[in-house]
Amino acid sequence: RSLATAVAYPSNILGVDYNKQITVLDTLKRQSQRPLTLTEKLLYSHLIVRGDGEWDLERIDRGKTILELRPDRIACHDATATMALLQFISAGLPRVRTPTTVHSDHLIISEKGAKEDMQRATLEHAEVYDFLSSASKKYGIGFWKPGSGIIHTVIFENYGMPGGLIIGTDSHTPNAGGLGMLGIGVGGADAVDAMSGMPWELVAPKVIGVNLTGQLQGWASTKDIICKLAGILTVSGGKGSVIEFFGPGTQTLGATAMATICNMSAEVGSTSCIFPHSPAMDRYLVATKREHVARAANQVRDVLLTADEGSHQYYDRIIDIDLSSLEPHINGPFTPDLAHPVSEFKSAVAERDWPLDLSHAMVGSCTNSSYEDLDKCRQLVRQAKAAGVPKFKVPFLLTPGSEQIRATTEADGILDELRDAGAVILSSSCGPCVGSWDRKDVDVKGKEKNSVISSFNRNFIGRHDSNPATHSFVTSPEIVTAFAYSGRLDFNPITDKVSGPESQFKLEPPVGQELPFNFEPGLETFQEPPSDGSSLSVNIDPKSDRLQLLKPFLKWQPGCAKDMEILFKVSGKCTTDHISPAGPWYKYRGHLENISNNMLTTATNAFLPNDPQMLGHTKSPVTGNLGVVPDIARELQAQGIRWCIIGDNNYGEGSSREHAALEPRFLGGTAIVARSFARIHETNLKKQGMLPLTFNDPADYDRILEGDRISLLGVEEGELQPGKPVTMSVRTRNGSTWAAQLNHSFHQGQLAWLRAGSALNYIKARSAS
Ligand code: F3S
Repeated sequence: RSLATAVAYPSNILGVDYNKQITVLDTLKRQSQRPLTLTEKLLYSHLIVRGDGEWDLERIDRGKTILELRPDRIACHDATATMALLQFISAGLPRVRTPTTVHSDHLIISEKGAKEDMQRATLEHAEVYDFLSSASKKYGIGFWKPGSGIIHTVIFENYGMPGGLIIGTDSHTPNAGGLGMLGIGVGGADAVDAMSGMPWELVAPKVIGVNLTGQLQGWASTKDIICKLAGILTVSGGKGSVIEFFGPGTQTLGATAMATICNMSAEVGSTSCIFPHSPAMDRYLVATKREHVARAANQVRDVLLTADEGSHQYYDRIIDIDLSSLEPHINGPFTPDLAHPVSEFKSAVAERDWPLDLSHAMVGSCTNSSYEDLDKCRQLVRQAKAAGVPKFKVPFLLTPGSEQIRATTEADGILDELRDAGAVILSSSCGPCVGSWDRKDVDVKGKEKNSVISSFNRNFIGRHDSNPATHSFVTSPEIVTAFAYSGRLDFNPITDKVSGPESQFKLEPPVGQELPFNFEPGLETFQEPPSDGSSLSVNIDPKSDRLQLLKPFLKWQPGCAKDMEILFKVSGKCTTDHISPAGPWYKYRGHLENISNNMLTTATNAFLPNDPQMLGHTKSPVTGNLGVVPDIARELQAQGIRWCIIGDNNYGEGSSREHAALEPRFLGGTAIVARSFARIHETNLKKQGMLPLTFNDPADYDRILEGDRISLLGVEEGELQPGKPVTMSVRTRNGSTWAAQLNHSFHQGQLAWLRAGSALNYIKARSAS
């Protein structure tokens, strides 16, 4: 195919430009004719190409090469959007440069039901919603108000575009893969880069091919495909990889069913998950009134939306799953990769000390609240009613994924039938799935042991209710509903009968309708941004303790890396959760000054006794007084004393939370010297104008002692160069000195961030010039 013919492809549909994507692929294929996997097509067609030959397919090293990409779309939810928007504001740009939406789904607390819970949220989070709404208007961002639904469902219903690339500040962004769109979860700092029009960087992922054959039977559903896969891959087996499905089985699944798999692919730590184009995607797009998208996708189906013939040899690993013999799975407790086929679950329950009586059954979330899912629940309710059992045996909660699905299932009578059986319909938001659940039926603070079963995706300790004794099991909505009639964990709907008042009966596997005859839009909950927001202002109460405008960090100060005190020497694991813990700090995520009071408060200090009481403490290098890390950091900052942190292995692993990089910078830190860094955190530190450096000889970490002072040589402007090591000179308490080599991974562009004081300062200066 020549470039001339490629010009005929559709462009600018929902922000996706097929023409450009295919042109980029053509450019790459000039150097190598090898067949491409679907993952490669979708990623590489979003590469930023500045000139011929910049990217060579043969030289892209999976797991190593950093790709510079141009996402088509960005989405943030309300728990991450506050800091992302505050950062964007400080970049000084008039408007986002990539289509962006903000979704109000995480903050709503579930307690009584949709109406009351929405009223409570509107009161409790008024200032946050007001800020998100006003900032979205001003900067050209689409704002989905509280009640609109859960970020991934709303994206699927409105922005899902086969072949597109979306990044979202939530790990379940791969949900979009059910429509053949590559979705990748990122931290707020990455989202801000893309909003500002900067390249978005991603290490080229490996590709795990999953070959689906056969067809699902009986009680088995797509949830079981990912539950089985989680058992095979474990929670980290997908790390650094995109899971790419192929094989005839892919053509037998509905779009929302494929979305369930892609959504939960985050539970194996994968970068993303993708399905090839299928007629089910067309059906879904047409049903959601996007025929034009379906038509455009069909034009590029072979060239862009399916893997090239012969590309399977380029998968890093292939896993085969026969759908015809797949059993329903129930995974948990405490981890989604503890997979139990339903035939083995009862014996697992008998062997373990899991609470036998279920305290709650929960259906919905972004993972499993499609029309087909909820219709299957209804089918089971009808069967039970016909057998003389009108009510569930345990409390049953349902979170619709969106206002559209709520309105549609309401109009079709599904919600009423579930209500009659005892279901409480919660607001269309995350609720119990993310711990926004004010439950009163068990003593959460007293850590009362109990079991819950849900169709959500995650079941880590305390995930739903902060109670470490809640045993949470993950399965499909139909299995949850069946268990709600049993009320007990030692139940197998395939073999066991449910007891009714007069007799016992067996539930039959439900068959749900894939799509409704008509999708009801429901209430209008979307705020479209005006085309020019320049005269608008952003609402932040200066007295707020939850929101605070960011002040730009000072640009690099010559000499700031000389004679630094050591604020803290980390011992062992130090994730971003140790650097900036969540829990009660969640509400301060839009207020850097307040949230900085959590810095390193759960980390272990190598200079102090290994005692839980000492976590997050340090001795002031000036006075010798013991205090919590942020207090000592503020003391040093107030006296103009420079400081650094010494890190251990893989410093900053875990979530990509940018607060973990913002806080040390805000409190006056200059550098973090570690044995090694987690890649995303290392980049986040660079973005905030910090110096992340690694010991060339990791054993030098042990030589750093309390009272040492550190000077970094070769870090001033003109001295620090990509690939050129830095010298660390250490003056010990007794006056002796020693030196060691440190390494860094700054490239030229990132050095500009360091000199400007932060990446945002750099963008601001560049856009002003
Ligand atoms: Fe929300 Fe749970 Fe999905 S937290 S975004 S409903 S995974």
